[in-house]
Amino acid sequence: MDTQPLYLRLSGHYRQAIQSGVLLPGQRMPSVRALTRLHRVSLSTAVEACHTLEDEGLLEARPRSGYFVLRRRRVDIQPPSEPDAGRKLDPAQYVGIHDRVSDFVAKCEFYPLLTNLAGTYGSPEMYPAEALKNAATRALRKHSQLLVSAPDMRSDSPLNAVLARRALDAGMRLSAEDILVTHGCIEALNVALRAVAQPGDTVAVESPTYHGLLQILESLGLRALEIPTSPQTGLSVEALELAFRTHDRIRAVVVMPNFHNPLGSVMPDPEKEKLVALCERQQVALIEDDTYGALGRDDIPLKAAKAWDKPGNDGNVIYCASLRKTLAPGLRLGWVAGGRWQARIQMLKYTQSRANEALAQFTVAEFMASSAYDRHMARLRRQLTGQREQMAEAIAAHFPAGTRLSVPGGSMLLWVELPPGTSAQAVFDAAIQQGIRVAPGSMFSNSSRFDHFLRISCGFPFSGAVDEALRKLAAIVAQNAPRPAA
Ligand SMILES: Cc1ncc(COP(=O)(O)O)c(C=O)c1O
Repeated sequence: MDTQPLYLRLSGHYRQAIQSGVLLPGQRMPSVRALTRLHRVSLSTAVEACHTLEDEGLLEARPRSGYFVLRRRRVDIQPPSEPDAGRKLDPAQYVGIHDRVSDFVAKCEFYPLLTNLAGTYGSPEMYPAEALKNAATRALRKHSQLLVSAPDMRSDSPLNAVLARRALDAGMRLSAEDILVTHGCIEALNVALRAVAQPGDTVAVESPTYHGLLQILESLGLRALEIPTSPQTGLSVEALELAFRTHDRIRAVVVMPNFHNPLGSVMPDPEKEKLVALCERQQVALIEDDTYGALGRDDIPLKAAKAWDKPGNDGNVIYCASLRKTLAPGLRLGWVAGGRWQARIQMLKYTQSRANEALAQFTVAEFMASSAYDRHMARLRRQLTGQREQMAEAIAAHFPAGTRLSVPGGSMLLWVELPPGTSAQAVFDAAIQQGIRVAPGSMFSNSSRFDHFLRISCGFPFSGAVDEALRKLAAIVAQNAPRPAA
């Protein structure tokens, strides 16, 4: 029997609706009188429940109109600055990001964690744990020798077939043989880069870009050439074209056209098409990281750049993806469709880590083949939409004037530009001591251009505790922001 007071049960009911995106910022709550009728509770219970949600920063009371899901002052906030697309490119550099990431990891391990705003996953409750457990049990029952037989890298595994089918949604025409399952997207990116570039070569990347990619470049002895990238529309294809004219050792371009990490940008389809054509003309491999592409707000999926590539072994786009953000953060599953480099990629993966375990693949294949997967994805997208909105509203409400941010149409990352001159590293250092984890902008570039940015994740449901953490973070930002001249 539920022993919670009635008003807490009622507030929990509506908290869940707000956190899952069923009730969106700006929408009206049922009136207090309607709550008494709908839930057969007393007036004081209904009022108490609304007060609880108000205290948690989820509702606001408007005089004579009732309660509304809180929409704060995001209308007042500007999107992050656009890059200077005409700026002279930095020289292609050997990446020196390991020290910054090591510092981040060491501090994250040292200080007790209260609120994680640095993760790139949803919280465990947002994924289908029970259904995956049942699928794993069924797979073991059906294939009793699964755990005691050595797996091989066969493309006729059921997962390859499902991935090929699901890839149709993003506009790609792949067969099961075009696909190689990897240990997460990180392995896909590793083998893709090793397949097309040698130490000393240059790789064009977005600026800023995913720090994991910069770490791979550093570990492979590759140089990064940072290309201006818009927080709204992604990589500047024009700037890349110019880079091809001025740099002669570019062997690969790595892009995240859909819901870029950390920017959240999406390249318009005509730009994706231009990019594919440009790389094809230049005979430079295009490595596409589509880790977050399926996490858009809309049911109509975004197109992958690979949708414009030549089919099968003629393709110049190496498509890399992950199942860890969409379906199962606990399973190290990703995949790659490497076009003309597929055979070499396969050999490198074989050398590096051999085949992925069969159990994880069978489990996920069964779930992804069913309509339960579509329902899960629809729920996840809706929930993330609500969480992005709530987090952005809270940042807008708490952070000091001069903060800029835009809310992407998908995924779980907000790229927040702090008032100019604020050291995001100093903010990170102070926040982590209070148990609040965020990612400082300096991890996403070789340059110092993003030293006053924070990447804030909204993968976990918004709550009073998250709101409180953002208030504290905002106070730290305000302490670190330069004082305006008197
Ligand atoms: C853009 C991007 N690519 C690749 C990865 C790594 O993916 P995985 O965890 O599947 O190895 C991440 C993880 O955060 C990411 O954000």
